[in-house]
Formats: sequence, C-alpha cells, structure tokens
Amino acid sequence: MAQLWGGRFTKETDKLAYQFNASIHFDRRFFEQDIEGSIAHAVMLEKQGILTQAEKDAIVKGLTGIREDVKEGSLVITDEYEDIHSFVEANLIERIGDAGKKLHTGRSRNDQVALDMKLYVRQEILETDAYLKELLETLIRLMEENMETYMPGFTHMQKAQPTTLAHHLGAYFEMFKRDRLRMKDIFMRMNYCPLGAGALAGTTYPLDRSYTASLLGFEGPTLNSMDSVSDRDYLIELLSALSTIMMHLSRFSEEIITWNSNEYHFVEIDDAYSTGSSIMPQKKNPDIAELTRGKTGRVYGALISMLTTMKGIPLAYNKDMQEDKEMTFDAIDTVKSCLVLFNGMVKTMRFNKAVMEKSAVNGFTNATDAADYLVGKGVPFRDAHGIIGSLVLYCIGKNTSIDALSLEELKTISPVFEEDIYEAVSLKTCVEKRLTLGAPGMDAMKEVIAINKEYLKEE
Ligand code: ARG
Repeated sequence: MAQLWGGRFTKETDKLAYQFNASIHFDRRFFEQDIEGSIAHAVMLEKQGILTQAEKDAIVKGLTGIREDVKEGSLVITDEYEDIHSFVEANLIERIGDAGKKLHTGRSRNDQVALDMKLYVRQEILETDAYLKELLETLIRLMEENMETYMPGFTHMQKAQPTTLAHHLGAYFEMFKRDRLRMKDIFMRMNYCPLGAGALAGTTYPLDRSYTASLLGFEGPTLNSMDSVSDRDYLIELLSALSTIMMHLSRFSEEIITWNSNEYHFVEIDDAYSTGSSIMPQKKNPDIAELTRGKTGRVYGALISMLTTMKGIPLAYNKDMQEDKEMTFDAIDTVKSCLVLFNGMVKTMRFNKAVMEKSAVNGFTNATDAADYLVGKGVPFRDAHGIIGSLVLYCIGKNTSIDALSLEELKTISPVFEEDIYEAVSLKTCVEKRLTLGAPGMDAMKEVIAINKEYLKEE
C-alpha cells in the first residue's frame, strides 16, 4: 500500500477498506492525461517562479520518461498504489528525488482528477464523433445508390405509403447528424480547465490558471473553484447524448432484424457480421444488431446511475464522485464499439431490391394517391377517401390490387376513373410525385443529398 497521506494516521488502513477505496484499476486508463496535466502544471509553476527551471526540467523529463516506460511496458501500473495520481507521483519522486515532491504544489487530487477526466472525455468525444461521421458516410453512399429502390413506408407497422430506401436511410442520416451536433455542443460547454481550483478553495500560490488552460487547449479556466472540483454535468450531458446515439442505433437495429427475418427478406446481412446456431444448421442470426439493441440498456443505465449518484452530493468534492469513471468508460466503450460494428454491418448488407419493391406494390400503399387522383378530377377529398376505402375493400375481397382491376370494374366503384388512373397509382408515380423538400421523390432527394454532402465536407 503506497499512500500519499500517511502523516496524520497512526494505523494502517484496513486491507478491504483500502481496496474498496482504491481506483487505480480503472483510473489507470487516463495515465497519459494525468502526465499531460502534470507537465502543464509544472511548466506554469516555473513561469510563476514557484519552481526553478532545473526543477521544472527534471519534472518534465521524469514524467515523459514514466509515460514512455509505461507505454513500452517496462514500467507496469500495479494496484500497489491507490490511484493513478499516486502512481505517477511516487514514480516521479523515485526517479528525480526532491524536485518530484514539489510537483503537487498548489494542486489537489480533486482538481487533478477533474482535469484528467476532462482531458480523457474530450478525446473520446472527438473519437465518437469520428465514428458517427464514418457511419454518415456509409449512409450517404447508400442513399445515392438507392433513390429508386422502392419500399413500403410504415405507420403502426402497417404499410402506409411507398417510399425509397434512400429516403428511409435518410431519416437515420438526420438522427446521427444531430448526434454529432450534440457531441460538439457538449465539447464546447465542458472545455474549461479546472486545474488551479485546488481542493475546493483555490490556493495561495500565485498560479496562472489561464496559462495552464491554454497549454492544455482549453477555452479558458473555470470560474468557481468549488464548482470546478464538483461539476459532473458534462458527464451527464455526455451520457445522455450517448444514450440517444444508442437509441438511434437500437431503432435501426430493430428494423434490420425485421428486414433480415425470413418473412421480410428485405436484406441479407453479410456472413462476416452474422452468427450461426450450434444446433440449427440453417440459422444465420443478426447478432450484431441484437447486441447493439441490447447494449442500449446498459448505456441508459450509466446515465441513470450518474444522475442518481450526483443528486444528493453537497459541495464540494465527495468520494461518491469517483463512481463517475467506470460507468462513463463503459458507456463510451460500448457506444464506440457499437458504432464501428454497426457501420461494418450496414456497409456490407445486401438489399433485396426486388423483394422490397414487391412489398411496396402490394398492401395498398397507393391508396392515398388513388384518392388524390379523384381529387384531381374534382371529387372532394373526404368523398374520394370514402370511394377508395370501398375500392380497397373490394380488392381485399377479390385478393387483388387497385392497379390490377379493369377500367370497367373501377368504373362500377366510381365513374370518374379513366385510363390515366393506372399511371397515377403506379409505384414510380406515387414516389416521384412526392417532391416537397424532405420527401422521397428523386429531385427532392437529390437536393437533400447535395446539402448533406456539403455538410460532410465541412464538418
Ligand atoms: N480517485 C479519486 C476520484 O476519482 C481522486 C480524487 C481523490 N480525492 C480525494 N480527496 N480523495 O475522485
């Protein structure tokens, strides 16, 4: 047990209590950020005349050496230390002696850990955003390729109106685009440096907090030292945004699972992203989509845990806050791996276009257009709705579709029908006439794709 705080104690910590308290088994994850923050702190201390140049140089050299040795494996982070901060400091003192003991001047582990976590999370936000962008690139390519891949659009899981695969995927494009915006927004709000807040009330040393903040790429220093060490809002926001990403991935997964079912057969998931059954030789299961759907619960769990952990904590730092790490790490890891796997699965998925188109043709997805046809001939919409309703009933009775009826049969339902009805209710017409911005008609779709390609170039 290597501790930073032996002086006041007359007894060793109980072994189990020590283990319960320790965080090195998870905060070792940000050892590089801990070193980066310490280097910036030392550089600032020297600029302010608190350290000599020789002391600062020794500290920077020592810390850089520790970082290299850990990375190449010659120095191992063991749970002999309580946390990553103790590990780094103890090793530094071992390497450079007394100068190492000065590093913690004007600093507490409270502002140190707040900084480390922010540095770590900042990096992870950028990485998550990059994965989201890769998924958007896959989607935009599929959208361009599938502007004429017709399929049914559903409401209540009932066939409603025909659309295209490009249009359907475009809906997810917009969702993931908003997810990226949320990442950017959180980054912007959290990008203020807590270092220099000390334990809670700042310090009597003449620190230059703005300088440290700029060395570490922050917008500036945080403005209240109590808030600096006890703010975890940005993690709550992040977990909420990550939960929303998972919710989107989960909805998409649910659709892929349905489309991949024997009954739908709209898509075929590539062998590389499917799994088999140990007993049923015919099986090819959509496990990646199912796991993504399943892991959503775990990310939601992290959000609720964090909200609950924070709700009763008085100012300023309390040890409860150490709990922020494992759940955040797990949520970030989960989302990143889901994004990567999901993208791979979608990228390689085959769309059975003929099956999708056939499904769009049956199920009366053109009924609204048939009613609009009558409206075009002067029938008030409410009457047209009623006429087409009886027409659908008639077709169901004969197990046929509107476009398969003869003109004579159609005329028995309404004399208004003419030869041009067939053109009016064809699948292609139904889709291509929908040209309001955001609709599936080819020209409208092209406009949206152009806007989104521009967006991908810029962001
Ligand atoms: N491991 C601690 C955490 O994650 C570091 C801060 C410790 N501060 C303290 N006062 N015990 O929150």
